[in-house]
Amino acid sequence: MSIQQLQALEKGGSLLQVKVPIPKPGDNEVCIRPRAVSLNPIDWKNLRFGATVNAWPAVLGIEGAGIVESVGGGVAAFKPGDEVMCWVNRSQFNGAFQDIYTAQEAAIAKKPASLSFEEATSLPIGYLAAAAAVAVGLKVALPGLSKTDGAAVSLQSVLVLGGSSSVGSAAVQLLRRALPSATIITTSSAAHHTRLKDLGATECLERSAQRNVTALRAFSPKGAGVDAILDAVGAIIDAPAVYEALRADGPKLYSLVITRPDIQLPAGIQATSKSSQKMGYSG
Ligand SMILES: NC(=O)c1ccc[n+]([C@@H]2O[C@H](COP(=O)([O-])OP(=O)(O)OC[C@H]3O[C@@H](n4cnc5c(N)ncnc54)[C@H](OP(=O)(O)O)[C@@H]3O)[C@@H](O)[C@H]2O)c1
Repeated sequence: MSIQQLQALEKGGSLLQVKVPIPKPGDNEVCIRPRAVSLNPIDWKNLRFGATVNAWPAVLGIEGAGIVESVGGGVAAFKPGDEVMCWVNRSQFNGAFQDIYTAQEAAIAKKPASLSFEEATSLPIGYLAAAAAVAVGLKVALPGLSKTDGAAVSLQSVLVLGGSSSVGSAAVQLLRRALPSATIITTSSAAHHTRLKDLGATECLERSAQRNVTALRAFSPKGAGVDAILDAVGAIIDAPAVYEALRADGPKLYSLVITRPDIQLPAGIQATSKSSQKMGYSG
C-alpha cells in the first residue's frame, strides 16, 4: 500500500509527486489524512531559501486539518476517524503536503465542529507563534498554558504592530484574555480597525503611525508610552521609531515574531527574537 507525497527537489526548485509507503505512527504519534492544508509563509520561505530545511528533497507543509488514520503506542487522546487540526513537526519526508502525514500527539487538537477543515488548518501555527510571542517574548502568563519563560510580568499596556496579520490578530486576542484591563494598541490598515476592536484592541492606529512616535504614544496610559511591543510583522525594519513608544521607566519589552534573521535591536531593549523556537516551533 502506498501514498503520494509532494517532494520539493531542491532549494528554489520544482515539486515532484512521488509514490511512497504508507507511514506508520511511532509512540505518541498520530497519522493524519489531510482534508485541508495551509500555505504558511514558512512554506515559501522553505522552498525559496531552505529556511528550516536540512536536507533535499523535502516534503513541506507545517500545519493541517484532517482525519486521524492511525495512532501509535501511548496515544490516548485520539482514535481513527477523529477530526483534528495540528502542527506538523517536519522532518525530511514528513510534512503536510502528502496523502498521510505524521504529527506528535501533543501538537494535535480536536477540530471544533463549528469550523470547516479549511478554517481549522489556518489556526495552529499563527496561534502558536502568537502564544510564543506573548508567553515567552513578553513573559505574560497565558490562561491554559503553564510554561512561561521566566517570571510572569504584569503589563498595563502593549502595542501590537501588524494587528491585522494572522499572528497579530491572534496576539491581540491572547493578550486580551491574559490582560483583561490592559491598554492594547495596534497598527493596521483602517479596513481592519472594527474587527480588531471586536477582537480586543483598545485603540487601532493606521500603519503610518509606526513612523510617528506622537501618534503611537497618544493612546498609551497618560501618554507616557507602552510597557511592551509585540511586533508581528517585522515592522521595526522599516520603522525604528517604534522603540520610542516604549515607556522610559517601564520594562521595555520587545517581542519580535520571526520574519527574517538578524534584526539589530538598540541597547536597553529586552528582545526575544527566537520566542517560538523556545516553545518548540521551528518556523
Ligand atoms: N502565519 C504564521 O503562522 C507565522 C508564524 C511565524 C512567523 N510568521 C511570520 O510573520 C510574518 C507575518 O505573517 P502572517 O502570516 O501573520 O501575515 P499575514 O496574515 O499574511 O498578514 C499580512 C498583513 O500584515 C500587515 N503588515 C505587513 N507588513 C506590515 C508592516 N510592516 N507594518 C504593519 N503591518 C504590516 C498587512 O496588514 P494591513 O492590510 O492591515 O496593512 C498585511 O496585510 C511573516 O514574515 C511570517 O513569515 C508567520
